[in-house]
This record gives sequence, structure tokens and C-alpha cells, in this order.
Amino acid sequence: MIFGAALWASLPVPSLMIDGDDTIIMSNPAAESFLNLSAKSLEGQRFWDRVMIDAPLEGPFVRARQNRTSLFVNDVDVGGGERPPLLCNVQFAPLQGDNETMIVMISPREIASRVSHNNYSGKAAKSAIGMAEMLAHEIKNPLAGITGAAQLLSMGLTPEDQELTDLIVAESRRIVKLLEQVEQFGNLRPPKLMPVNIHDVLDRARQSAAVGFGAHMLFVEEYDPSLPPTLADADQLLQVFLNLLKNASEACKEAGTIRLHTFYDAALRVRRTDGTQARLPLQIEIIDDGPGLPPDIADDIFEPFVSGRENGTGLGLALVSKLIVDGGGWISVDSVPGRTLFRISLPIAPKEMLTGED
Ligand SMILES: Nc1ncnc2c1ncn2[C@@H]1O[C@H](COP(=O)(O)OP(=O)(O)OP(=O)(O)O)[C@@H](O)[C@H]1O
Ligand SMILES: [Mg+2]
Repeated sequence: MIFGAALWASLPVPSLMIDGDDTIIMSNPAAESFLNLSAKSLEGQRFWDRVMIDAPLEGPFVRARQNRTSLFVNDVDVGGGERPPLLCNVQFAPLQGDNETMIVMISPREIASRVSHNNYSGKAAKSAIGMAEMLAHEIKNPLAGITGAAQLLSMGLTPEDQELTDLIVAESRRIVKLLEQVEQFGNLRPPKLMPVNIHDVLDRARQSAAVGFGAHMLFVEEYDPSLPPTLADADQLLQVFLNLLKNASEACKEAGTIRLHTFYDAALRVRRTDGTQARLPLQIEIIDDGPGLPPDIADDIFEPFVSGRENGTGLGLALVSKLIVDGGGWISVDSVPGRTLFRISLPIAPKEMLTGED
């Protein structure tokens, strides 16, 4: 039974157990944090007073309890405690070996609150990037002078001393490359939104990865060929996929597998800051079997200049996040050692844009 208690406590899905009088007799930590209420203020309370489900459920629920069957309620707003309602799927299931107790599991359908930190629009971050861009520009000129001087100097030197000037030249080039990435980051042209076939772009990214930085990786495609086009800037989307494939390839040093998985999930929506909801049914997952995100930076990988690699600038994912979020999409990540999954959720191109396409 100790195992049972651990299982209950570890379930990532908010779950409650309710007895024959609709009283909550148990709640797991996921339910506490979802409802923003402690176990103490949940247990012993009437379920329907603590959990607000925006659907006429009491009748169907009574029948499910009597018949010991499960009841699924999809796409309903669920609120509780202080928290605003969130779109969820709710499942009621009878507890085995008992003729009254029911288990309730609440699965949030919106990902906005979980990964809101990647919503890349902070003023501070923007001005930090403006500053970095200016610095990048200012450093490049003197650096070119230093490189040139080192090259001139090397002409009259012994081979041993030339090693030192070579070092100056090589390191300066590395800084220039880094600065160019910083400049590129700030220099984003506005996206040209068009209907785009996701698989065409994924294929281009995969092909260029396979002959370059991802030559040591095995690529596995799991496409749903029936996916309709998305609305995006194809070049920017390519940049996004390349960045994700590059990170996955860099994480798997010797060899590894990258799965490219696409599918349709009609229930996925995000709530925008203005309160409206947007449907993002097209899902693209890039999954690698590498070591996973370094735990100390896992929460900040979408922030600029956060890198777990010796030579990383930490701009790749900041750029990815900016491009996706600015285009109305969403990106989230789920990583454990052996399995890192980046998921991009995109809108469907409106029908009227599909006609007249060349
Ligand atoms: N698939 C992955 N597996 C493991 N760690 C990852 C993965 N993707 C990203 N990371 C971690 O997140 C960090 C940030 O990635 P990001 O692409 O933003 O920067 P970078 O790769 O370090 O530098 P840049 O892309 O600018 O060259 C990486 O340094 C790495 O530690
Ligand atoms: Mg990167």
C-alpha cells in the first residue's frame, strides 16, 4: 500500500477521490497545485463546492457512480479556489473494489500557464538585446583591426611564435561569429505569413542537418500526411527546425536518434493575453534520445544568453521561441535523461488563403 500512496502522490494529473456523499476524501499534490488549495482545505469538503466544472454533470455523474462506469467530459472549463477557469478534459472513474468511491482526474488542455515564461516579449529582454546588438557592432570593427595586425605580425615570426598569432586570429574569428549571431538575433524582418506545408519544411531541415551538424544522427519520420497547411513564414520556420535539430544533435555527442513526429490535436488552445483563445491544432514534435536538458538551466532555456554548452551563445532557443510566439504559435519542452521533446503547436492556414496560392 506504501507503493499505492507513492503512486497517488506522484501522479502528474490532478486527481481527487470522492466518496458516496460527494465528499473529497483524498487529493494528490497535482490537484492541490492545480486548484490552488491545500489538501486540508480540499479533504472533507463537498467536491462540487471546491471544483467548478462548467457543465451540467451531477446527473451523469450519479449514473456513472451507480453503474460503476467511467464518465469522460472533454473541453470544459474547470476552476477552483482562487484560480481562473482553465480548459480541461475531466474523467470520472470508479475505484476498483468499492461500490461508491469515484476517482476524478482533471487534465488541463491549455499549456499557457505551464510554459508562460517562454512568452518572449519582456521589455527588459528587448532592451538587453538592443544593447547587445549595439555592442556587437562596436566590437566588430576594432576586432577586425586586431586580426589584421596579428596577421601582419605573424609574417616575421618563427613557427612557435606564429602559433600565438594564429591563436589571436582564430579566437577573434570566433568572437566575430558570435557577434554576428547576436546581430542576427536583433535583426528580424517581419514575417511573411503564407500557407506552408509543414512536412516540406521539416524535410528541408532534416536534409540539411543530415549532411552537416547532424551527420551522426539517425532521423525517423513519423508524419501525419493529412495535416493541412499552417500559416507561417517558411524561412523562419526552417530556421526554427534547424535550431532544434542542431541542439538535439549537439546534445547527442557520438550518435543518437531524432524523431520528427507530426499530428493533429484539435483540443489544444492557448489563451492569449487579451483573453481570446486561439486554436493550435498542428503539432510538431522533435524528440531526441540524448542526455536531456542540464537541470540547472532547464527553466531558462528560452531566455537569451542561457547556454549549457561551452561554445553556445544561448540565442538559438530564444530566437526559436520569439519566432514561434510572434507567429501566433506555441512551443513547450519536456525533458528527462534519454528523452527530450520540443513541441511546436501551430494554427491552420485560413481556408480563404489557400485559394489563389501559386
Ligand atoms: N535537445 C536538447 N537536449 C539537451 N539539451 C538541450 C537541448 N536543446 C537545448 N538544450 C540546452 O539548452 C541550451 C540552450 O540552447 P540554445 O539553442 O538556446 O543555445 P545554444 O545551443 O547553447 O547556443 P546557440 O544555439 O546560440 O549556438 C543548450 O546550450 C543546451 O544546454
Ligand atoms: Mg542552439
